Amino acid sequence: MNPSEMNLLEVAKQELIRSNRDYRHPFNLMTLATIDAKTGYPQVRTVVMRHINSLLNVLFYSDSRSPKIVQIEKNNLTSIIWYHPKRKLQVRMDCIAHIVEEKSQLYKDHLLKVKHSKSVSDYNSSLAPGTELNGLEVKHRDEIHFSLIQLNPTLIDILQLSNEGHQRSLYISANEQWQESILVP
Ligand SMILES: Cc1cc2nc3c(=O)[nH]c(=O)nc-3n(C[C@H](O)[C@H](O)[C@H](O)COP(=O)(O)O)c2cc1C
Repeated sequence: MNPSEMNLLEVAKQELIRSNRDYRHPFNLMTLATIDAKTGYPQVRTVVMRHINSLLNVLFYSDSRSPKIVQIEKNNLTSIIWYHPKRKLQVRMDCIAHIVEEKSQLYKDHLLKVKHSKSVSDYNSSLAPGTELNGLEVKHRDEIHFSLIQLNPTLIDILQLSNEGHQRSLYISANEQWQESILVP
C-alpha cells in the first residue's frame, strides 16, 4: 500500500517493525521518560530499542542497578518517543513498563545474546551506573546485572510533518483495538 493511503498508525508501525531488521534505522534509538518519585521530575535518556513486535510491545536492556530501573520499580508509567528525520515522522507512546522475570525464557534468550557480545561490559561493572567515581576504579566482574524491560503501549500519538500540511493522530487502546482520533497538529 502507498504510504499516502495508510493511516498514521500503519505508517508508524511499518517503520517501527522495519527497524528490527535495519541497524541503521533511526528508530533503533528511542528516548525513554520515567518519573523519579524522589524529586518528582521526569527523567529522559536515550536507549537502544532491541525489538518491537506486531502488538508494538518494545524491549530494551539496562543495568539492573541503574536509576531508570529503580524508577520503573516504583512507578511503571513511562513514555517513549522516536523521530525519523527523513520521513519527518514522530511517534510517541505512553507505556506500562514490565521488568521481565529472570526465570522466563525471553529473559534467558536475551541474556545469552548479551553474554556472547562485547556489550556484556555494560552490565558487569563493579560499581553501579551513576555512582560517583571519586578516584575509584571501575572493574568488570563475572556477575551480570542485566535487566530486560518490556514496554506495553496504552496510547500512541503520531505526528507526520509535511509541506502539504502536517497530520497528527492519537490512538487509544480499547478492547485490544486502537481507536483513532484525528488531532490538530
Ligand atoms: C546512543 C545511546 C544508546 C544508549 N543505550 C542505552 C541502553 O540501551 N540501555 C541503557 O540502560 N542505557 C543506554 N544508554 C545510556 C543512557 O542514555 C543513560 O545515560 C544511562 O543508562 C543512565 O540512565 P539513568 O541514570 O537514567 O538510568 C545509551 C546512551 C546513548 C547515548
